[in-house]
Amino acid sequence: MSEQIYTPAPDRYDAMHYRRSGKSGVLLPEISLGFWHNFGDNHDESIGLDIVHYAFDHGICHFDLANNYGPPNGAAEERFGRYMKQSLHTHRDELFIATKAGHLMWPGPYGDWGSRKSLIASLDQSLRRMQLDYVDVYYTHRYDPNTPLEETMQALVDIVRSGKALYVGLSKYPADAARKAYAYLAAHDVPCLIYQGRYNMLTRDPEELIIPQAHQHGAGFIAFSPLAQGLLTNRYLQGIPEGSRMTTSNFLRPEVLTDALLEKLRALNDVAQQRGQTLAEMALAWLLRDERVTSVIIGASSVEQLDKNLRARDNKHFTPEELALIDDILKL
Ligand SMILES: NC(=O)c1ccc[n+]([C@@H]2O[C@H](COP(=O)([O-])OP(=O)(O)OC[C@H]3O[C@@H](n4cnc5c(N)ncnc54)[C@H](OP(=O)(O)O)[C@@H]3O)[C@@H](O)[C@H]2O)c1
Repeated sequence: MSEQIYTPAPDRYDAMHYRRSGKSGVLLPEISLGFWHNFGDNHDESIGLDIVHYAFDHGICHFDLANNYGPPNGAAEERFGRYMKQSLHTHRDELFIATKAGHLMWPGPYGDWGSRKSLIASLDQSLRRMQLDYVDVYYTHRYDPNTPLEETMQALVDIVRSGKALYVGLSKYPADAARKAYAYLAAHDVPCLIYQGRYNMLTRDPEELIIPQAHQHGAGFIAFSPLAQGLLTNRYLQGIPEGSRMTTSNFLRPEVLTDALLEKLRALNDVAQQRGQTLAEMALAWLLRDERVTSVIIGASSVEQLDKNLRARDNKHFTPEELALIDDILKL
């Protein structure tokens, strides 16, 4: 890692827009940075640091982590801890840092899902790895159908009371469980800050129930995988490049890239070009056209990708004709 002392850009907040998360006091940047991929032991640590610096220099003050991000599990948090120590610790109060627990993290009955035991132990581990006293938002990473919802929610309430997290969030909860969770948290004076769900042009499920429900309960909504892991960029339009996520991760398999999908992506790319945008820019702008979407959490494997994606902010306006055309393409 670079030994040079990092001084953040003085104008870092000028070009970013910040949106209120539901009815809370928290503003989040429209574009946030995620650590699921690109920050594990299989990625260069100094490139990651450059990405983090570039993000912060451009007003991205929200970083999204989870206990199991790596590989191996925990590696992204450890790396983030080193970045904090090296460059960002003096800016801790400018940062909004998220972590989560709920997917398999350590062996045995307590390293997975949503028990009080698991959530509290995992957060203690995350804080140690990230060299932090507290996180800004702690998520239950997924709904646990075998643990009473009240137990998971009370653990979140107690975590906030303990000062180890300032706010709590839900990730990937089905609407029914989310409704009960919002009610429990509100009744215990720890209103849910935000719901995190997969939302992009190819996965529109949250539009029907989850986004309106979050809005109704005063929670924000933050979209993960807004570029469908790179499908909604020019990455795969001309084949599968070596080193791309499709060649390095089990989470994006080449089988998804069917002729039908490619046809759709190329048609979307044409619309983007007519708007004077790249496909990635349009895909992000399309999500942000809805004011109830507090932020989109992008991934980036290079500073160049991050820089390009930040340009989505320049044109978030869609005409009714463009929206109808996009809808038609997405129905193909
Ligand atoms: N709550 C949950 O369960 C959950 C689940 C998944 C993700 N998340 C969060 O959401 C974050 C983002 O998810 P994601 O990484 O799937 O997001 P994404 O933005 O949909 O995909 C990011 C990937 O797309 C490619 N890419 C990005 N910009 C590009 C550009 N301009 N041109 C070409 N390719 C580009 C890169 O892949 P290459 O490697 O090919 O360069 C990059 O790593 C995660 O880091 C995590 O914080 C949460």
